[in-house]
Amino acid sequence: MSDKLALCMVGCGGMGSRHLRGLASLARTGLSNIELVAVCDVREDNAKRAAAEAEELLGRRPAVHLSMAKAIADPAIQAFDIVTDASSHAAVVVPALQASKAVLCEKPLGLTVRSCRAMIDAAAANTVLATAENYRRDPPNRLVRAVLEAGLLGHVHLMNQFSVGGDDKIIITPWRHDKHRGAIGMDMGVHYADIIQYYLGPFESAAGDAFMAEPIRHRRAKPEMDTPAYRERLAEMPETVIPTGEDSVVANFRMQSGVLVQMAYVPSGPGERWWQRSLHGRLGSLSVPRDRTGGAPVLQRADGILRGREILRELPDFTLDEVTSRIFGDNAVEYTIPFNDADAGHIAIEMHDFARAVLEGGQPEIDGWGGLTAVAAVLAAFESGIAGRTITLSEILDGSVSAYQDEIDRAQGLL
Ligand SMILES: NC(=O)c1ccc[n+]([C@@H]2O[C@H](COP(=O)([O-])OP(=O)(O)OC[C@H]3O[C@@H](n4cnc5c(N)ncnc54)[C@H](O)[C@@H]3O)[C@@H](O)[C@H]2O)c1
Repeated sequence: MSDKLALCMVGCGGMGSRHLRGLASLARTGLSNIELVAVCDVREDNAKRAAAEAEELLGRRPAVHLSMAKAIADPAIQAFDIVTDASSHAAVVVPALQASKAVLCEKPLGLTVRSCRAMIDAAAANTVLATAENYRRDPPNRLVRAVLEAGLLGHVHLMNQFSVGGDDKIIITPWRHDKHRGAIGMDMGVHYADIIQYYLGPFESAAGDAFMAEPIRHRRAKPEMDTPAYRERLAEMPETVIPTGEDSVVANFRMQSGVLVQMAYVPSGPGERWWQRSLHGRLGSLSVPRDRTGGAPVLQRADGILRGREILRELPDFTLDEVTSRIFGDNAVEYTIPFNDADAGHIAIEMHDFARAVLEGGQPEIDGWGGLTAVAAVLAAFESGIAGRTITLSEILDGSVSAYQDEIDRAQGLL
């Protein structure tokens, strides 16, 4: 048997094709610890397209399974990479974990606390459940975390995370506008929630709301990414979608550390497209570029402004791990590689981290609990809008506040 992790990718849609590019990026580092032995999708056309893409990218055609049951029964598979839509995560992850197979599951881990907990509870103590969350793997985000850990901003009062403005087009897939299959307000909000917890530690509470800014969404002219999976997915989309899931979420979070965070994701409206991530402390501020652009974080303090690599002067011990360095370059806290290559690089890093945890023992960087807490933070904002008050994370995590989620859980048979 190979010393690499024998992996089956489940879910061969848009993100599945990006995971294949992530595996190819990992292979190029010379440090790959994964062998893709199979792909699985309930849609045969998607599974076969992914198998052909994998052969082209990785030089080996994986086996094709058309059901999770068949894949779990395949003795050649040690672990699963789950890239199905979020509403199906629990249904595919739980049986895999119960069969003692390790699982890396795309964010959001689940759409509700119950669905996330079903996965966490299904993992035996020695079975790895990891959450695939790519944004924090971006070298500029590694730098931000190091700046905060070194205390270069002094006491931090405030973080802002805003992504506001957009249009009335379908965002990526129709299911992202369906409450029961995964509202885009959750789908994107969870990325930002993970960044916030990565920078600042655990959430304490949220006051906010979620809403549908666009009552009708229309098919866009071009896919968001130029891959066969994205092109084919766009071609089969309806002209319009009437959303049932919230496209927008606005929240004020309090972190357990006391830091206040303002977050808004409102992908609607032809006005100014406003994206901002910044941290403000007693000694200075840090503004952070959009993830996967390679832009330089800017540190501004009384003694001047430092950009990107210049900040490393203040952080003599800063290093990126070996896989990240091989993909982005040594200490590449700013970079110029194209978006698609950066995206593949982040997926390579998270997959390598998962396989290391399975093969060598230890924890993945983001386990099931880390996936759950990011989901719970966004749900706290959703539930706050319904309850009309601030909601604590413990109320979300212990299930005592769940009005928004109950309908989804009922539909999934979890309630
Ligand atoms: N981290 C990121 O930047 C990022 C970006 C895009 C998507 N995602 C995540 O990846 C996941 C997939 O998103 P997508 O855009 O690729 O969706 P998609 O709809 O394009 O693809 C999902 C695929 O899963 C298959 N599938 C559904 N249920 C299945 C089951 N029970 N067994 C086997 N196959 C099944 C579908 O047939 C489809 O081919 C979601 O969780 C999404 O949030 C993450």
